[in-house]
Amino acid sequence: MTPTNLPRWTDEAPEPGVPEAPPRHVAIIMDGNGRWAAARGLPRLEGHRRGVEALRKAIRAAHELGVRHLTLYSFSVENWSRPAEEVSDLMNLLRLFIRRDLAELHKANIRIRVIGERGNLPPDILGLLVEAETTTRANTGLDLVVAFNYGARQEIVSAVRRIAEAARDGRLDPAKIDAGLISDHLDTADIPDPDLVIRTSGELRISNFLLWQSAYAEFAFLPMHWPDFDKQAFEEAVASYRSRQRRYGGRLAARAGA
Ligand code: FPP
Repeated sequence: MTPTNLPRWTDEAPEPGVPEAPPRHVAIIMDGNGRWAAARGLPRLEGHRRGVEALRKAIRAAHELGVRHLTLYSFSVENWSRPAEEVSDLMNLLRLFIRRDLAELHKANIRIRVIGERGNLPPDILGLLVEAETTTRANTGLDLVVAFNYGARQEIVSAVRRIAEAARDGRLDPAKIDAGLISDHLDTADIPDPDLVIRTSGELRISNFLLWQSAYAEFAFLPMHWPDFDKQAFEEAVASYRSRQRRYGGRLAARAGA
């Protein structure tokens, strides 16, 4: 990955209508590692390992396709309920990923941010996540948002709690609570809402991912399992996004004769 391949992103909010620019923010639910492995008679861990390779491809493709922010759902708050061995495998893959890839991501001018709950993470994992954020803080290229130990309902609960505390302490007038204020209290406070949410593996669910932020996102549900995701799949999802009419609940200006 080289920083010379300048992306064509825009900081402008998308206008209603058929998008002219690539999606500013793409968020991905990387699903199907286990089924990919099972279909090949391989252990689940092999599916997750291949999932990390697909994740690298997705980062490179986002950079090349001119996406500004890429959010990857890497570990949900619900994933703790998996067998301890699988949880441990996923933690180890994150350790490996940061240790092996951080220098290259930094060189590619990628900024890493982490969203999700930090309180109950193993201390070394937290240390690595903070190191990734600190090392890349000043980078101006692709914004890579890693959703780790993330749950959208938990994120909203935590925001509501802080807003309620501010109101109770007289620091906030409840009449001033609006959608913008709630957005500002989420982990994604300074990241624009996703324009496109991709989910692999054929499941048609959002699974507690960016519930508030996806209010007007376009969705692409792909039949392939995550380890098979590649630049072509990313391009096709973006092409599909660019053929949609985004209306944000309104109506587009009437066409002549329509
Ligand atoms: C879904 O597959 C995948 C996850 C649990 C999260 C994504 C994980 C990776 C891409 C690999 C780990 C990478 C890091 C950086 C932690 P699944 O196990 O739910 O698949 P299934 O639904 O087919 O069982």
